[in-house]
Parts: sequence; structure tokens; C-alpha cells
Amino acid sequence: MSPDAAQNLIHLTYLVAVALFILALKWLSSPATARHGVLGGEIGAALAVVATLAGAEVIEYKWVVAALVAGAVVGVPLGLVPMTAVPQRTALSHAFGALAAALVGSAEYYARLPNVSRFGMAEIALEVIIGSLTLTGSMIAAGKLQEILPQRPITFRGQNLVSLSVLGAAVAIAVALVVHPENTQLFPVMVAVALLFGALLVTPIGGADMPTVISLLNSYAGLSAALLGFVLNSKVLVVAGALDGSSGFILSVIMCRAMNRSFTNVMFGAFGQVEATAAAAEEKRPVRSATPEEAAAILASASKVIIVPGYGMAVAQAQHKVRELYDAMTKRGVDVKFGIHPVAGRMPGHMNVLLAEADIPYDKLLDMETVNGEFPETDVALVIGANDVTNPAARLDRSSPIYGMPILDVDKARTAMVIKRSLNPGFAGIDNPLYYLDKTLMLFGDAKAFVAGIVHELGGHGHP
Ligand code: TAP
Repeated sequence: MSPDAAQNLIHLTYLVAVALFILALKWLSSPATARHGVLGGEIGAALAVVATLAGAEVIEYKWVVAALVAGAVVGVPLGLVPMTAVPQRTALSHAFGALAAALVGSAEYYARLPNVSRFGMAEIALEVIIGSLTLTGSMIAAGKLQEILPQRPITFRGQNLVSLSVLGAAVAIAVALVVHPENTQLFPVMVAVALLFGALLVTPIGGADMPTVISLLNSYAGLSAALLGFVLNSKVLVVAGALDGSSGFILSVIMCRAMNRSFTNVMFGAFGQVEATAAAAEEKRPVRSATPEEAAAILASASKVIIVPGYGMAVAQAQHKVRELYDAMTKRGVDVKFGIHPVAGRMPGHMNVLLAEADIPYDKLLDMETVNGEFPETDVALVIGANDVTNPAARLDRSSPIYGMPILDVDKARTAMVIKRSLNPGFAGIDNPLYYLDKTLMLFGDAKAFVAGIVHELGGHGHP
């Protein structure tokens, strides 16, 4: 094949990869096509890698192979973490992506010396600053989610001013480098200051806001990849980075809306530091509880039930038992639907993925806006391991830290039943007044075992 034909083939492959990336995003937006989306994205990424490796710029494959092996050694175990650990795994992926962008940008700076153009320097500096701050920010986010670092916001007086000054310093050094690119001693200082800013950016943000932060860091990682595309003159990197950056940004906006928070409040509000003591004080209040037999009797006489799953269902891996419960109730003529809150669980779409895994029909999964109108006509709202997303304090208590967050109105159903192990608070660390209502029955126990107990009573396969 002539060099020109080979070059054309490479560009064509890039084009197909980019088309697959766009289709993957489209397919990922519905549970029915999400699997195609994942596959499309994977094939697109593989094509882009192969086309890049086939390029004339690669002069030796020895180091490429070594890097691929090293990447696989780290990547394969990371891909096998349990689903509940996917948010922190995603944060680590962003950290690796950002590290790669910052390292390649730095290598490009040193390789071009002493002839770095001012425009080239501006591109490199911006890209390396964003890559570096995304690296430390993502590592802190992963540490918080894995509970290696404290989840609560860590704050000090004048924090926002300090953080902004550090960012200002990084930008000032970048400007100095653009004016005098040959000032090599400034480059590592700029990187160090940007790394510090990333840490300062995420440390004051509480655990409950981490999903939004991670998807924002996702958009920063995409942005640095797109900038790196300009530095390296790689169109596929520009497009892939731009898609990554914009989809991450859109996802963070969706999550902010689902929690009724503004971006500034998420980034600078130090949300979630108030509550633990209040929750502990509330625990003494009396609640009504019931056994699996009693719960089964109530469910069997209901005509309409809405199941509200949350993080506890994921931890207990109760989705297959929930499917058995759905079957047992449907067989008895009960109308069963699922109410899905956009931030139930620990990652976007968490509940949809689990319930799809258990083959629960998609048309039975209703989003929050649709299902909320149905609670007043519902006999039983059965909450399985959800807490914050059902907390009426968000609607009623102006002093609550989650006031204004849209919730699933389970307290409007005729009876609310809540499966969880204790009265302990959920992710936001606050007490839930739902548990103390007269209409509420607490079903204390592990989600999987309790649901199995109910299924058993209803005559399904389940056994406690
Ligand atoms: P949470 O409010 O975190 O409540 C989950 C409840 O599950 C806990 O109160 C816990 O109570 C119970 N639980 C834990 N293990 C259990 C088990 N084995 N069996 C039965 N129950 C169990 O969950 P949620 O209602 O799904 O709300 C999600 C929260 O996470 C929100 O605050 C949201 O903002 C935040 N968040 C969301 C995301 C996304 S994007 N989805 C990501 C990160 C954080 P016990 O300890 O008493 O059992």
C-alpha cells in the first residue's frame, strides 16, 4: 500500500471511530440500547488506538507494547471492581487520563525546546494545568468515595480565597511562560501549583456531592484531552475529548438539577457537614416495625404497590430477589411499578442497571416526575434500601441541608414500608422523618434476606 493510501485508510478509521463515539452516547441515553452504546464506544476506542499505532509517527513498538502490558495489569483489576465501587473507579480513570494528558503535554514542551512558539506554549500550559488539577482532584474524589479520606467537607477560613489565589498563581506562571517559553524553571512550578489547586478544589466538597464533582472532573479530563489533540494535531483526540468534556458537563448539570443544587453551591458550599449529631439525637423516637410475614400479608392485600430501590438494594445485591417479589405479587394480580430517583444509589443510572440485570421490564421503571403523581393512589410504597431520596425533610424542613432536593413522595402513599437494617442515616448523613410517621412500617433487616422472606410468605421461591 502506498503511503498516501495508508494515510487515507487511517483517516477513514478515525472517522468511523468518531461516528461510533457519537452513536455510543446516543445509545447510552436509554436502558434499552445502553449495551450497544458500551460496545460501540469500545469498538470506536479500539479502532482509534489501532489507527494511531499504524501511523508513520510510531518509530518503535517496544515501549508501546510495554505500556500496553502495564496498562492492562492496572486496568483489568480496575474493571472487575464491584458495581458499588464504580464511582471511585471512574474517578481513578479520570485521574489516569488526566495524568497521561499532563505527561504528554510536558514531554511536548521539553521536546520542542528551545523553539516553543507562544501559541504552542499557551496550548501546552492550559492543557497541562487542566490535566494536573484533574489528576489530584480525581484522586481526592476517589479517596473520599473509598473512605480512605474523610467524606465530610474539610474546610478552613478563607478557603475559597486561598484556592482562587492558587489558581491565579498557576495562570500567572502560564502567562509568564507564554511570554518567555525558554524559562524552563517555571514549568515544574506551574505543574506543582496546578496539582495543589486540584486538591484544594475537591477537599472542601462533601461525599454527597462527589458524583457531581466526578462528572465535572470527567469534563475537565475531556477538555485536557481535547487541548492535547490541538497540541499534537490529532483530530480524533480533539473530537473524543470534546465529546467526553461536554457529556460530562451535561451529566453534572442533570445531577445538580436532581439534587436542586447550583454549581456554585456544589463547588463552594461545603454541603453535608452539619448533620451527624442531629441524626443521632433523633434515633430515640419510637417507630413501628413489622416481620416478613406481616409485610407479606399487607402486600398480598394491596392492589397497587410502588417499589422504591436505593443504595441498600445494591449493597445487598437484592435485585434478583426483588424480581422474584415482583413476579409473586404480579401473579396475585397486584399492580407493581418501580419509582426511580435520578440519584438513587451511588452513580447515575445505578438502579436501572441493577433492575435491568434482573430482567425487570423497562416499562415498569418510572422516573421521579412520572411516579410522584401516583403515590396518593398507591396502597403500599415499598422502600428497599433507599433513604435520602425518600426524605420528606427535603420538601418540608427549610433548615434541612437537603431542603429543595426533589424526592420520591413515598410519604403520600397509604402505607410506607421501609426495608433497611437500622435507623442509621443514608449518604447525606441526616435523619429521615418518614420513619416516624404513623403510616410507616420499618422492616428491619438486610434487603436481600428480608425480600426473600416476603417472597417465601407469598408462596414464591424465596427463602430467608
Ligand atoms: P442512601 O440515602 O445512601 O441510603 C441507603 C440506605 O440503605 C442506608 O440508609 C442504609 O441503612 C441502607 N442499607 C445499606 N445496606 C443495606 C443492606 N444490606 N440491606 C438493607 N439496607 C441497607 O441511598 P439512596 O436513598 O439511594 O440515596 C442516594 C444518596 O447517595 C443521595 O444522598 C445521593 O445524593 C447520594 N449519591 C448519589 C449518587 C448517584 S449519582 N446516584 C452518587 C453518590 C452519592 P442501614 O444502614 O440502616 O441499613
